[in-house]
Formats: sequence, C-alpha cells, structure tokens
Amino acid sequence: MNLMSLRPADEDDIESMVRIEKSVHPSPWNAQHFLEELNKSFSTLWVYTDDETDSLVYGYICFWEMDKELQILNVAVDPQKKRQGLGHGLVQKVISYGIKNQLKRIFLNVRKSNDPAIALYQKCQFQITHVRKNFYSHSEDAYEMEVRLDGGERVPEVPVSRKIH
Ligand SMILES: CC(C)(COP(=O)(O)OP(=O)(O)OC[C@H]1O[C@@H](n2cnc3c(N)ncnc32)[C@H](O)[C@@H]1OP(=O)(O)O)[C@@H](O)C(=O)NCCC(=O)NCCS
Repeated sequence: MNLMSLRPADEDDIESMVRIEKSVHPSPWNAQHFLEELNKSFSTLWVYTDDETDSLVYGYICFWEMDKELQILNVAVDPQKKRQGLGHGLVQKVISYGIKNQLKRIFLNVRKSNDPAIALYQKCQFQITHVRKNFYSHSEDAYEMEVRLDGGERVPEVPVSRKIH
C-alpha cells in the first residue's frame, strides 16, 4: 500500500472528493457543498492523500464542532481502498481530536441500512442512542450514534438486531 497522510482539505481536493462521493453515497455532496464546508468556521474537513504527490485523495471526513460537541457529517473512502483501515483511521483521528480538545461527545446520523458504516462506528465505541424516523429521503430511518468522551452519563443504547456480513 502507498504511504499516506492526513491533512486539512483544500479547494484542490474537491474534484477528487466529489468523484468518491458519487461512487459511494446515494445522495452525494456536490462541489458547492464541499466548498461551503471549507468556508464554515465550525466545520473541519480532513483528507487522506498519498505521500508521494499529496494530491491523490483516498478518503475524507467532515465534522462540525459546536458547544463542546462534535458531529460527524460525512466520512468516505475510495472504493478501491476499502477495508484497509482508512475509515477506522479517519474516525479515530476525530476521536483523538475530541479528547485532546476536552469535548463532551461525538455524534452522527447513519442510514439504518448502512451496515459497513454502523460496524465501523461500533468498532470505534459508538453506541446507537436514537432511531430517527424518516430522517432521509425515501423514508429511510437513521440511527443516531454517539461516543462519550467526558465520562458523562450515556443515553441507554437502543437494542437493535442487525446482521453484519
Ligand atoms: C464506511 C466506510 C467509510 C468504511 O471505510 P473502510 O476504510 O472500508 O473501513 P475500515 O477498513 O477502516 O474498517 C474498519 C471496520 O469497519 C467495519 N467495516 C468496514 N467495512 C465493512 C463492511 N463492508 N462490512 C462489515 N463491516 C465493515 C469493520 O468492523 C472494520 O473492521 P475490520 O476490518 O477489523 O473487520 C466505507 O465503507 C465507505 O466509504 N462507505 C461509503 C460512505 C459511507 O457510507 N459513509 C458513512 C456515512 S454515515
């Protein structure tokens, strides 16, 4: 595997991120959406790129920081680079950032049908705390998942039975 590093995204990465978006998400972000995230003071966008050229984007993660909490808005890995630990690396970096900055919790919403992402978050100690009915278009429900960083009281986990392949 090529060596890669994580760095803040910039406008030159947008084209690659849009290409990955189209191949992995049912409702992909477009270039304008990425540009807006780059310009929001509370939004952070990190990319994994190859060390040789620093321009090949293999994966990215976007999160918002507000009121001592982080919300992960998007995480995606190039389909050709899946199952090599990149997704885990991206989420763990955000958790490390949250711990370093003494934040209270990290949360996100994920499609109920998105087994790979749910398994990734569970591997990173996230728990399902709520079911959000019809959260997505076409009436798909979401799970809200969170990981506490402050030792604060956890919302009881929602019991769900799911089969992971
Ligand atoms: C979800 C996603 C980011 C995972 O990225 P990845 O780099 O392939 O994941 P990793 O290799 O780091 O896997 C970490 C863990 O996640 C889980 N996982 C990842 N892909 C999985 C799959 N297809 N099936 C089951 N579990 C999976 C496993 O627990 C895995 O640990 P293991 O390899 O030790 O079994 C990637 O599949 C993706 O880009 N999906 C499309 C975009 C998306 O759905 N994003 C989430 C929106 S909320």
